[in-house]
Order: sequence, then structure tokens, then C-alpha cells
Amino acid sequence: FDIEAFRNDLIEWFRAEQRILPWRENQDPYRVWVSEIMLQQTRVDTVIPYFQNFLEKFPTPQALAYAEEQEVLKAWEGLGYYSRARNLQTAVREVVESYDGKVPNNEKELGSLKGVGPYTRGAILSIAYDLPSPAVDGNVMRVLSRILMIEEDIAKPATRKIFESLIRELISKEDPSAFNQGLMELGALVCTPKSPSCLLCPVRSHCRAFHQGKETELPIKSSK
Ligand code: ADE
Repeated sequence: FDIEAFRNDLIEWFRAEQRILPWRENQDPYRVWVSEIMLQQTRVDTVIPYFQNFLEKFPTPQALAYAEEQEVLKAWEGLGYYSRARNLQTAVREVVESYDGKVPNNEKELGSLKGVGPYTRGAILSIAYDLPSPAVDGNVMRVLSRILMIEEDIAKPATRKIFESLIRELISKEDPSAFNQGLMELGALVCTPKSPSCLLCPVRSHCRAFHQGKETELPIKSSK
């Protein structure tokens, strides 16, 4: 497996083909954070207007920290999973009180914030801070399980760590942001669950599942 060629093909494709999305306008860690929390259980198209409205109402960590909870929940209305909004405000208050309003740029402090799990932590560190930290969600597990023919059960909680270790080896140290977002974007646009568009895939030459015609047999996901 040619890691270098895979990385380059993925990153080049992402730079050329990425969707224009409001949270990609700049690398402000607070914006990246809000977007990743919203995107956890909600589709991109739904999130866009909520993200824009939320950032107008609460443009900085300070603005969100000092807002009334009711005001925050109102801006979240329709997105669902309201504990995400409550946890985000709790965590942002911690950032304002303990870190002078600066979103931490290391795994330990960032991962200790309420509602910031390994996925969100890795997304913020890579996208906002250009640090080589894995951001593994279901889409990324699907993409990588196909490329590397990994037959671990992605329904098992322990499996995420296997993918995190692999990504720590694979990730570009030059552009971790484009690498992680490239995996996410590939999962969203090309390497989709039911009928992946392998003939359009920028990394199909690296894909073990494609070579064996087994792309739709992966990932393995027990239904429990
Ligand atoms: N899904 C999760 N994170 C995303 C991101 N940063 N861009 C697009 N879709 C995503």
C-alpha cells in the first residue's frame, strides 16, 4: 500500500472538489466546533441555515457563554438532540473561564470538555489547528474499511480505536485538515453506503475492496 500516493490523491481531490460550506470559510476553532456538533446527528443541508443563524446570534465563545440557555435552545429548535446545545454551552463557558476564551489545541484539555468526544476533538485539532489527530465517525470507518479491507465490526465500540491507530499512521503531517476532511467528503459524495461511485473515486487505485469487487460487502456491521 503506497501511503504517500494515497494521501496525495485524497488531498488533491479534496482541494479541487470539496463543497463550499459555511464552516469552511475559515479555521476559527469555535466555528469548527459548532459545525461538528451540529453535524453529528444532522444532515449537511439541514445544518447550513442553523449554523449561519447560530453564528450570527453567538459569534464568539464569549457570546455563547453569556447567553441565556433558553436563547441557545431557541436557536437550536428543529435540530433536535438538545443535550448537544446544552453541553456546548457548558463547554464554552469552561473555555471562557479556564482558557481565556481560547479553544484548547491539545487532546487532553479539548477532550475533557463536555460533549467533546474523540471524533469532535480530532475534527477540531485537525481542521482548526492543522494537527495530525484522527477524526473517526461512521463515514470514515466505512471509507477506510473498504480501502484497506478491514473486516472489524464497526458496531463494536472498541473498533473505533483500531481506525484511530491506522489514521495516525496514514494521516498527512503536511495537511491533516485536508486529509481528514477528504475522508469525510469522500464518504459523503463518493464512497456512499449502498452504491458507492467507484468509477468516480479519486483513490480507487488504492482501494482493496474495489479491486476485489467487494465494496458493497464492507463495512461489517453487526445489527445489535
Ligand atoms: N460531516 C462531519 N463533519 C463534516 C464537515 N466538516 N464537513 C462536511 N460534512 C461533515
